[in-house]
Amino acid sequence: SIPVPNVQEMVRNNPLQVPKRYVRSEEELEKLNTMPHLSYQIPVIDLALLSCRNSEELLKLDVACKEWGFFQIVNHGVQKELLQRMKDASAEFFKLPIEEKEKYAMPSNDIQGYGHAYVVSEEQTLDWSDALMFVTYPTRYRKLQYWPQTPHGFKEIIEAYASEVRRVGEELLNSLSQIMGMQKHVLLELHKESLQGLRVNYYPPCSAPEQVLGLSPHSDTSTITLLMQDDDVVGLEIRHQGRWVSVTPISDALVVNVGDVIEIWSNGKYKSVEHRAVTNKNKKRTSYALFVCPQEDVEVEPLDHMISALNPKLYQKVKYGDYLRQSMKRKMEGKAHTDVVR
Ligand code: SIN
Ligand code: FE2
Repeated sequence: SIPVPNVQEMVRNNPLQVPKRYVRSEEELEKLNTMPHLSYQIPVIDLALLSCRNSEELLKLDVACKEWGFFQIVNHGVQKELLQRMKDASAEFFKLPIEEKEKYAMPSNDIQGYGHAYVVSEEQTLDWSDALMFVTYPTRYRKLQYWPQTPHGFKEIIEAYASEVRRVGEELLNSLSQIMGMQKHVLLELHKESLQGLRVNYYPPCSAPEQVLGLSPHSDTSTITLLMQDDDVVGLEIRHQGRWVSVTPISDALVVNVGDVIEIWSNGKYKSVEHRAVTNKNKKRTSYALFVCPQEDVEVEPLDHMISALNPKLYQKVKYGDYLRQSMKRKMEGKAHTDVVR
């Protein structure tokens, strides 16, 4: 990636300025296609009920994955205090002087660290956000030089957060196995030594939010993604029936989305839905995306029982590591996932 301005600093130095490099075309923003806020609510699912195989809740999960690709989970068992500690420590980190944060700067040949991944050309329209990213599992892949030393204890908080949310992810994989018509442990077994990454997105306020995007439209290359977001500001928008629908935060809930891997394994029954983030005129927003992915050598292809005469096989077999590299390359070339013929 090439060096680009730190958005938080840019806004701090000149709050009213929106440089051309950030301004989107009308076409890209699809303003007319945005649904007014609160007009829809994505499904809300109770993880405690799912985990005791409540059939009504499993049915809700099936519908959510088929029709939305997104849902919020409540009763996930992650302590409220831990969620709050993660938010507080991250807020402290982003408040640090830029010189301190740049100790964790993302190098041009990596996507871990503090900065902007996937920026490859001067012409590219930039996202109105900064990010802090790292691999959290398997632990031997951790590059601890990118895990902030300040505020004190942040590393331990990240570790606890990653471990707890991984547990939630595993419970969801069990339920996903069941709604896909398999034994409970099948998806979990495909996630031995699974890869997990965390991206903390920081969206400073923008004086002209209608001209920029906090995060460009994309789908996630993960199996599933679990997202914590601030509960006082809206920002995440998902593609639903051809429009952009915003996800209204529920306090202490986690937003979950089906990633590309589930879309492939389910032979397209469950969709990896495109999403983006918009910014706010007065408020900063922070979101915490945890990606649960198979290990690199896992072969990803539609499961036999998801294929039939009516549902022919839609995707070719691919090793997850190759899939990941291909999609990173596409992102480098600035292509949206909708451009891709699978
Ligand atoms: C993401 O897609 O990783 C995050 C979107 C958000 O900030 O809500
Ligand atoms: Fe995403």
